[in-house]
Formats: sequence, structure tokens, C-alpha cells
Amino acid sequence: MDIAENPFSPGAGDPPPECAGRDEILEEARILLMRVKAGRSEKDMLLTGLRGVGKTVLLNKLEQLAKNTGYKTILIESHEDKSLSVMLIQPLRRFLHSLDPAVNQLARRGLAVLKSFITAVKVKYSDIELGLDIEPELGAADSGDIELDLPSLFIAVGEAAKEKNTGLAILIDELQYFSKQELSALIMAIHKMHQKQLPVVLIGAGLPVLPALVGESKSYSERLFQFPSVGPLSFEDMERALQEPVKSRGVSFTPDALKEIFKMTEGYPYFIQEWGYQAWNYADSPKIDLKIIKKASAQVMDRLDKNFFRVRFDRLTPAERNYLRAMAELESSPYRSGDVAEILKMPPNAFGPVREKLIKKGMIYSQAHGEIAFTVPLFDQFIKRTVPNFS
Ligand SMILES: Nc1ncnc2c1ncn2[C@@H]1O[C@H](COP(=O)(O)OP(=O)(O)OP(=O)(O)O)[C@@H](O)[C@H]1O
Ligand SMILES: [Mg+2]
Repeated sequence: MDIAENPFSPGAGDPPPECAGRDEILEEARILLMRVKAGRSEKDMLLTGLRGVGKTVLLNKLEQLAKNTGYKTILIESHEDKSLSVMLIQPLRRFLHSLDPAVNQLARRGLAVLKSFITAVKVKYSDIELGLDIEPELGAADSGDIELDLPSLFIAVGEAAKEKNTGLAILIDELQYFSKQELSALIMAIHKMHQKQLPVVLIGAGLPVLPALVGESKSYSERLFQFPSVGPLSFEDMERALQEPVKSRGVSFTPDALKEIFKMTEGYPYFIQEWGYQAWNYADSPKIDLKIIKKASAQVMDRLDKNFFRVRFDRLTPAERNYLRAMAELESSPYRSGDVAEILKMPPNAFGPVREKLIKKGMIYSQAHGEIAFTVPLFDQFIKRTVPNFS
């Protein structure tokens, strides 16, 4: 069929033609936004899930939902080269300016506190023009300790938002990459928002290690956050994700075709988009059947092996690859690191550094002591295909 008409969207953060299976999370987010806006208490939201499950897609949808609920929004993605403070400065400045600081006293104060925060962060912000001849408010958010300064800054921002009867939703992607100190500062800042019932909401997303990281940082975190899991789709949701986009074009997948796609993808959204995309391109009639899927599968697997899986694999050292290969030998995830070491015929503590590096590179994560799992769905199958034997 005409590739130009292909509705599927395999990619990173590309909105799917049908965002299936996320109604519950959207409803929870709606309740959070409505309650905080009305000055009620509600847990903030940290979405967790493996690579390619649709966290970024969902975060973008939630930003839209926040806007529709009357919030101003800030959406950022953590970045190796930039600190949380630096990433927040420009968007917060823009937000405070939108609150009409010429008229509103607390918006002016927000900018003054932001200015002293910038001094403490010690970045050259010659290009940041705070305007209105705002002087920094000495002693506010300028200690140089982010765990003290970020909460003070958030309070000033939250009070300015409240004065204008508006809310601020801060959405942050890939939260697990921030340093311990930054995460801790963010949690403390959100804690203050709860205590003072200020209209600032945090919606974050990250790998499944996030609840552990946040819990380690502050034991009260479980009372501040809910952690909805963004997982693979059920068969019915996968069916919706595939059938809905093609329906209006008079096309459909047969039951056998759907079963085969579910077997191959295990319901993981990115893979569903890849299979849908190739199946459409291979189809020679409006009924996409098992025969077409089988043909498409060879192409999809090849593409995944050469791109999605390969880019991650190529960044690893031989020792790291060998460790992952040994993990793939084991039955079911999460794996015990002791069992991996046993397969490699070495004592468990021999692999501490390798494991740490794999966690840093975002290839594996550990939710509980001594347990590890792949962050990329179906990576175990890929690595077995690519490295039939290991040393
Ligand atoms: N609910 C859904 N139904 C169908 N397809 C989806 C759904 N959510 C996401 N997708 C598709 O899955 C793919 C991956 O989405 P996204 O980039 O948001 O994942 P992610 O969890 O952010 O991945 P990563 O951890 O690698 O950043 C995209 O091609 C998107 O169109
Ligand atoms: Mg993402």
C-alpha cells in the first residue's frame, strides 16, 4: 500500500496514531492537576517504564492536558552536560514574565529570587535579561547549595503563580539521569509545594529505577509521589493501536495477523509501531493477514537489529557485552547478579564495576539489592541472536 499514507509512527517520542492503553494514567493526571489547581493536596506523578514504552509520548500528552486545565507548563529533558538548575532558569524566567511582573508584586519577587539563584549557580547568563531593573534578593536561594536554594526558588515561583491564580506544571523526561543531589533538591522543593499548598505540579518520567532512586534520596518520597507504570499493551490495547489507525482507510488486520504481532512484540509500543509500519508497506490488499506479517517480520527484525538494538550494543565494551550475554542466558527477569556471576564462573563482587557502568549507560537497572534487569525490551533475544556464544 502507499507508503505516503502509512499512519504508523515508529520513533522516539513520535505521537502514535492511536495512543492505546493509557486512559487510567491520563485520568490520574487529570485528577492531580484539578486538585492542585483548587489548592487541594495530591501526590505528584513519576511515570516509569522501559525504553520505547511511550513515556515521552505520554509526557507530551500530559503537557497538553495541563495546558487545557489552565496551567502554564515547562517541559525539559535531562541532559548529561547540563545541570537541573541551568535547565530551569530560562523556562522559569519566561513563566515569571508571563505573570505580569510590572503589576504583580510576587512575580517581581520571583524574578528577584531567580536572579540571586542565578548568581549562586555561577553560570554566565549574560544573555538572560531579567528586565524591569530587578535587583537580586540577597539571601534568597543564593547559598550555592541546591538543596536549600531550589526549594526557596520554588516557593517564590509558587507564590507568584498563586497570586495570579494560575498553576505551573513542570514536566521532566529521563529523570534518572540527574545527580543524587539534584533529585534530592527537586524532591525537597516539591515537598515545600505540598506543605504550602502552592499550585506547582511535577510530572516526571524515567526508567523503572526511578522509585528506588527517589526513595533512597528521601524516605518520605512515597507519600509525595505516585509511580504509574507505563508498560507493554494488553492484546486488546494492541489491537486498538493497530486497527484504529487503518480503519478509516478501509484496511484491517486479521485475527491471525494480530496474534502473530502480539507474539513478536509482547505488546511493547515501539515494536507495535514498527510492525504496523512494515505490515502496511508489504500489504497488497486491505486485509493484512498472517502471510504479510511473516514477510514483514523478517524486515522488522533486521531493522531493529541494525538500528534500535545495535546503537545501544555498539556503545559497550567487550566486558560489558559479555556480562549482558550471560544475563540473557538466565530464565526470567529480574535476574540475580549472583546467578550472572555464576554463569561467568567468577565471584559476584568481580562484576561490580561492569554492572555500575551498564547502569550508567542506561542498559540495565536495579530495583532491589542484588537484582538486575534490561532496560530495553526483548534485548535478551537480540543479544542471543547477535552473540550466539559467549566467553
Ligand atoms: N500508547 C501507545 N500506543 C501505541 N503506540 C505508542 C504508545 N505510546 C507510544 N507509542 C509509540 O512507541 C514509540 C516509543 O514512544 P516513546 O519515545 O514515547 O517511548 P519512551 O518510553 O519515551 O522511550 P525511551 O525510554 O527510549 O525514551 C513511538 O513510536 C510511539 O509512537
Ligand atoms: Mg523517551
